[in-house]
Amino acid sequence: MDLKFGDVQETALIPLAIKASETSRPNARIKDLKAKEIIDTLGVDVSKFDPFLSHEGVVARTIMFREELKRLIGIYPEALCINLGCGFDDKFSQVDNGKITWFDVDLPDQIAVRRKVYEDRERCTMLDGSALEREWTKNLPKNDITIVVMEGVLQYFSKEQVEICLKMLCDSFPHGYLLAEQHSPFLEKHGNHHDAVKNTNAAFGWGTKTGREYLELEPRLTFVSEKSYNKEMKKYSIRGKLFAVVGKNINNRLAVFKW
Ligand SMILES: C[S@@+](CC[C@H](N)C(=O)[O-])C[C@H]1O[C@@H](n2cnc3c(N)ncnc32)[C@H](O)[C@@H]1O
Repeated sequence: MDLKFGDVQETALIPLAIKASETSRPNARIKDLKAKEIIDTLGVDVSKFDPFLSHEGVVARTIMFREELKRLIGIYPEALCINLGCGFDDKFSQVDNGKITWFDVDLPDQIAVRRKVYEDRERCTMLDGSALEREWTKNLPKNDITIVVMEGVLQYFSKEQVEICLKMLCDSFPHGYLLAEQHSPFLEKHGNHHDAVKNTNAAFGWGTKTGREYLELEPRLTFVSEKSYNKEMKKYSIRGKLFAVVGKNINNRLAVFKW
Protein backbone atom coordinates (compact mmCIF):
# COMPACT_ATOMS: atom_id res chain seq x y z
CA MET A 1 0.00 0.00 0.00
CA ASP A 2 1.41 3.43 -0.93
CA LEU A 3 1.34 5.51 2.25
CA LYS A 4 2.46 9.08 2.82
CA PHE A 5 3.08 10.24 6.37
CA GLY A 6 4.08 13.64 7.72
CA ASP A 7 7.20 13.69 9.93
CA VAL A 8 5.34 13.49 13.24
CA GLN A 9 2.64 11.20 11.87
CA GLU A 10 5.37 8.70 10.91
CA THR A 11 6.23 8.39 14.61
CA ALA A 12 2.90 6.55 15.06
CA LEU A 13 4.66 3.55 13.49
CA ILE A 14 6.98 3.31 16.54
CA PRO A 15 4.37 2.34 19.18
CA LEU A 16 2.60 0.26 16.53
CA ALA A 17 5.77 -1.77 15.82
CA ILE A 18 6.53 -2.20 19.51
CA LYS A 19 3.02 -3.28 20.51
CA ALA A 20 3.00 -5.84 17.68
CA SER A 21 6.43 -7.25 18.55
CA GLU A 22 5.66 -7.41 22.29
CA THR A 23 2.40 -9.25 21.50
CA SER A 24 4.36 -11.99 19.70
CA ARG A 25 6.77 -12.55 22.61
CA PRO A 26 6.35 -15.35 25.14
CA ASN A 27 4.96 -13.86 28.39
CA ALA A 28 3.94 -10.68 26.55
CA ARG A 29 3.25 -7.85 29.01
CA ILE A 30 0.72 -6.31 26.64
CA LYS A 31 -1.40 -8.05 24.04
CA ASP A 32 -2.36 -6.00 21.00
CA LEU A 33 -3.41 -8.29 18.16
CA LYS A 34 -4.77 -5.29 16.26
CA ALA A 35 -1.26 -3.80 16.00
CA LYS A 36 0.04 -6.90 14.23
CA GLU A 37 -2.97 -6.96 11.91
CA ILE A 38 -2.43 -3.27 11.01
CA ILE A 39 1.23 -3.83 10.07
CA ASP A 40 0.27 -6.77 7.88
CA THR A 41 -2.59 -4.86 6.21
CA LEU A 42 -0.55 -1.70 5.56
CA GLY A 43 2.50 -3.69 4.49
CA VAL A 44 4.88 -1.22 6.18
CA ASP A 45 8.44 -2.08 7.17
CA VAL A 46 8.70 -1.25 10.88
CA SER A 47 11.90 -3.18 11.63
CA LYS A 48 13.88 -0.03 12.55
CA PHE A 49 11.27 1.14 15.06
CA ASP A 50 11.74 -1.44 17.83
CA PRO A 51 15.01 -0.85 19.76
CA PHE A 52 15.32 -1.88 23.43
CA LEU A 53 14.74 1.37 25.36
CA SER A 54 11.85 2.53 23.18
CA HIS A 55 10.36 -0.93 23.40
CA GLU A 56 10.45 -0.93 27.19
CA GLY A 57 9.21 2.68 27.33
CA VAL A 58 6.21 2.02 25.09
CA VAL A 59 5.30 -1.15 27.01
CA ALA A 60 5.54 0.81 30.28
CA ARG A 61 3.50 3.74 29.03
CA THR A 62 0.84 1.49 27.51
CA ILE A 63 0.36 -0.18 30.90
CA MET A 64 0.51 3.10 32.86
CA PHE A 65 -1.88 5.06 30.61
CA ARG A 66 -4.31 2.14 30.54
CA GLU A 67 -4.35 1.78 34.33
CA GLU A 68 -4.77 5.52 34.92
CA LEU A 69 -7.52 5.68 32.34
CA LYS A 70 -9.31 2.72 33.91
CA ARG A 71 -9.07 4.42 37.30
CA LEU A 72 -10.65 7.63 35.99
CA ILE A 73 -13.32 5.76 34.02
CA GLY A 74 -14.11 3.89 37.26
CA ILE A 75 -14.91 7.28 38.85
CA TYR A 76 -16.64 8.74 35.75
CA PRO A 77 -18.16 5.73 33.96
CA GLU A 78 -20.03 7.82 31.39
CA ALA A 79 -17.18 10.20 30.55
CA LEU A 80 -16.47 11.59 27.12
CA CYS A 81 -12.99 10.22 26.28
CA ILE A 82 -10.73 11.59 23.56
CA ASN A 83 -7.55 9.96 22.32
CA LEU A 84 -5.96 13.09 20.86
CA GLY A 85 -3.15 12.18 18.45
CA CYS A 86 -4.44 8.59 18.45
CA GLY A 87 -2.20 7.31 15.64
CA PHE A 88 -2.95 3.58 15.36
CA ASP A 89 -3.63 3.11 19.07
CA ASP A 90 -6.58 0.97 20.15
CA LYS A 91 -6.99 2.10 23.73
CA PHE A 92 -10.80 2.09 23.54
CA SER A 93 -10.92 -1.71 23.44
CA GLN A 94 -8.58 -1.92 26.46
CA VAL A 95 -10.72 0.27 28.72
CA ASP A 96 -14.28 0.19 27.39
CA ASN A 97 -16.87 -0.28 30.14
CA GLY A 98 -19.89 -0.30 27.81
CA LYS A 99 -20.82 3.28 28.77
CA ILE A 100 -18.08 5.71 27.78
CA THR A 101 -18.24 7.72 24.57
CA TRP A 102 -14.90 7.70 22.78
CA PHE A 103 -13.36 9.74 19.96
CA ASP A 104 -10.09 8.87 18.21
CA VAL A 105 -8.78 12.20 16.90
CA ASP A 106 -5.73 12.90 14.74
CA LEU A 107 -4.63 15.02 11.79
CA PRO A 108 -6.61 14.33 8.58
CA ASP A 109 -3.84 12.40 6.79
CA GLN A 110 -3.33 10.15 9.82
CA ILE A 111 -7.06 9.52 10.19
CA ALA A 112 -7.24 8.70 6.46
CA VAL A 113 -4.68 5.91 6.99
CA ARG A 114 -6.37 4.82 10.23
CA ARG A 115 -9.64 4.40 8.33
CA LYS A 116 -7.96 1.75 6.17
CA VAL A 117 -7.50 -0.44 9.23
CA TYR A 118 -10.29 0.56 11.64
CA GLU A 119 -14.02 1.15 11.32
CA ASP A 120 -16.06 3.30 13.64
CA ARG A 121 -17.55 1.20 16.42
CA GLU A 122 -20.51 1.72 18.74
CA ARG A 123 -19.51 4.68 21.00
CA CYS A 124 -16.08 4.89 19.31
CA THR A 125 -15.71 7.34 16.42
CA MET A 126 -12.73 8.59 14.39
CA LEU A 127 -12.47 12.31 13.77
CA ASP A 128 -10.14 14.66 11.87
CA GLY A 129 -8.85 17.29 14.28
CA SER A 130 -5.77 19.07 15.52
CA ALA A 131 -4.61 19.59 19.09
CA LEU A 132 -3.85 23.16 18.05
CA GLU A 133 -7.33 24.34 17.07
CA ARG A 134 -10.82 23.77 18.42
CA GLU A 135 -13.19 23.57 15.47
CA TRP A 136 -13.53 19.77 15.76
CA THR A 137 -14.60 19.97 19.40
CA LYS A 138 -17.76 21.95 18.63
CA ASN A 139 -19.93 19.05 17.48
CA LEU A 140 -18.93 16.58 20.20
CA PRO A 141 -21.62 15.43 22.64
CA LYS A 142 -21.77 17.55 25.80
CA ASN A 143 -20.55 15.84 28.95
CA ASP A 144 -19.68 17.04 32.47
CA ILE A 145 -16.32 15.25 32.34
CA THR A 146 -13.98 14.83 29.41
CA ILE A 147 -10.90 12.63 29.71
CA VAL A 148 -8.23 13.50 27.16
CA VAL A 149 -5.34 11.14 26.45
CA MET A 150 -2.21 12.53 24.77
CA GLU A 151 0.28 9.68 24.60
CA GLY A 152 3.38 10.34 22.53
CA VAL A 153 2.04 13.63 21.15
CA LEU A 154 2.94 16.70 23.23
CA GLN A 155 6.65 15.91 23.08
CA TYR A 156 6.69 17.05 19.46
CA PHE A 157 5.22 20.49 20.31
CA SER A 158 7.02 23.74 21.05
CA LYS A 159 6.24 25.46 24.36
CA GLU A 160 3.92 27.86 22.48
CA GLN A 161 2.09 24.93 20.88
CA VAL A 162 1.67 23.18 24.25
CA GLU A 163 0.14 26.40 25.60
CA ILE A 164 -2.25 26.65 22.62
CA CYS A 165 -3.28 23.02 23.13
CA LEU A 166 -3.93 23.40 26.88
CA LYS A 167 -5.99 26.56 26.29
CA MET A 168 -7.94 24.81 23.52
CA LEU A 169 -8.84 21.93 25.88
CA CYS A 170 -9.88 24.20 28.76
CA ASP A 171 -11.92 26.45 26.41
CA SER A 172 -13.64 23.50 24.72
CA PHE A 173 -14.64 21.25 27.63
CA PRO A 174 -16.12 22.51 30.93
CA HIS A 175 -14.28 20.00 33.17
CA GLY A 176 -11.82 17.29 32.43
CA TYR A 177 -8.64 15.37 32.95
CA LEU A 178 -5.59 15.35 30.72
CA LEU A 179 -3.23 12.36 30.68
CA ALA A 180 -0.10 13.78 29.08
CA GLU A 181 3.22 12.16 28.24
CA GLN A 182 6.10 14.39 29.32
CA HIS A 183 9.74 14.29 28.26
CA SER A 184 12.77 15.92 29.77
CA PRO A 185 14.80 18.96 28.67
CA PHE A 186 17.65 16.43 28.15
CA LEU A 187 15.65 14.65 25.46
CA GLU A 188 14.64 17.98 23.94
CA LYS A 189 18.37 18.70 23.42
CA HIS A 190 19.54 15.21 22.52
CA GLY A 191 16.49 13.83 20.70
CA ASN A 192 18.53 13.11 17.59
CA HIS A 193 20.12 10.26 19.59
CA HIS A 194 16.77 8.76 20.62
CA ASP A 195 16.97 5.09 19.64
CA ALA A 196 13.73 5.04 17.58
CA VAL A 197 12.82 8.66 16.77
CA LYS A 198 16.25 9.16 15.13
CA ASN A 199 14.93 6.87 12.38
CA THR A 200 12.22 9.40 11.51
CA ASN A 201 12.39 13.07 10.48
CA ALA A 202 10.51 14.18 13.60
CA ALA A 203 12.20 16.33 16.25
CA PHE A 204 11.36 16.63 19.94
CA GLY A 205 9.90 19.90 21.16
CA TRP A 206 9.77 21.51 24.59
CA GLY A 207 10.76 19.23 27.49
CA THR A 208 9.80 19.72 31.15
CA LYS A 209 11.53 18.86 34.42
CA THR A 210 8.08 18.40 35.93
CA GLY A 211 4.56 18.55 34.56
CA ARG A 212 3.91 21.37 37.03
CA GLU A 213 5.47 23.64 34.40
CA TYR A 214 2.18 23.29 32.50
CA LEU A 215 0.40 25.19 35.27
CA GLU A 216 2.26 28.36 34.35
CA LEU A 217 0.91 28.06 30.80
CA GLU A 218 -2.73 27.41 31.70
CA PRO A 219 -3.95 28.59 35.13
CA ARG A 220 -7.24 26.64 34.87
CA LEU A 221 -5.27 23.38 35.20
CA THR A 222 -4.44 21.73 38.49
CA PHE A 223 -1.75 19.09 38.90
CA VAL A 224 -2.97 15.61 39.93
CA SER A 225 0.02 13.28 39.67
CA GLU A 226 3.17 12.38 37.78
CA LYS A 227 5.02 9.07 37.43
CA SER A 228 8.21 8.22 35.58
CA TYR A 229 8.09 5.26 33.19
CA ASN A 230 11.02 3.96 35.24
CA LYS A 231 8.48 2.83 37.82
CA GLU A 232 7.19 0.22 35.37
CA MET A 233 10.38 -0.39 33.33
CA LYS A 234 12.51 -1.38 36.30
CA LYS A 235 10.25 -4.34 37.07
CA TYR A 236 11.27 -6.31 34.00
CA SER A 237 15.00 -6.36 33.27
CA ILE A 238 18.45 -5.54 34.59
CA ARG A 239 18.82 -2.94 31.84
CA GLY A 240 15.49 -1.43 32.85
CA LYS A 241 16.67 -1.32 36.49
CA LEU A 242 19.96 0.28 35.46
CA PHE A 243 18.23 2.86 33.31
CA ALA A 244 16.02 3.80 36.26
CA VAL A 245 19.25 4.84 38.03
CA VAL A 246 21.21 6.34 35.14
CA GLY A 247 18.11 7.84 33.51
CA LYS A 248 16.39 8.78 36.77
CA ASN A 249 15.49 12.26 35.58
CA ILE A 250 15.50 11.74 31.84
CA ASN A 251 12.91 9.05 31.24
CA ASN A 252 9.45 10.09 30.06
CA ARG A 253 6.58 10.50 32.52
CA LEU A 254 2.83 10.26 32.66
CA ALA A 255 1.44 13.46 34.14
CA VAL A 256 -2.24 13.90 34.99
CA PHE A 257 -3.98 17.28 35.12
CA LYS A 258 -7.51 18.33 35.99
CA TRP A 259 -9.57 21.40 35.14
C1 LIG B 1 4.12 9.00 18.33
S1 LIG B 1 2.55 9.09 17.55
C2 LIG B 1 1.56 8.53 18.93
C3 LIG B 1 0.32 7.83 18.48
C4 LIG B 1 -0.53 7.23 19.60
N1 LIG B 1 -0.92 8.21 20.57
C5 LIG B 1 0.20 6.10 20.26
O1 LIG B 1 0.65 6.23 21.41
O2 LIG B 1 0.32 5.05 19.63
C6 LIG B 1 2.18 10.86 17.46
C7 LIG B 1 0.81 11.15 16.90
O3 LIG B 1 0.51 12.54 17.11
C8 LIG B 1 -0.23 12.99 16.00
N2 LIG B 1 -0.18 14.46 15.92
C9 LIG B 1 0.88 15.26 15.65
N3 LIG B 1 0.53 16.55 15.67
C10 LIG B 1 -0.80 16.59 15.98
C11 LIG B 1 -1.75 17.62 16.14
N4 LIG B 1 -1.42 18.91 15.99
N5 LIG B 1 -3.01 17.29 16.45
C12 LIG B 1 -3.37 15.98 16.60
N6 LIG B 1 -2.51 14.95 16.46
C13 LIG B 1 -1.24 15.24 16.14
C14 LIG B 1 0.48 12.30 14.84
O4 LIG B 1 -0.27 12.32 13.65
C15 LIG B 1 0.70 10.91 15.41
O5 LIG B 1 -0.40 10.05 15.13
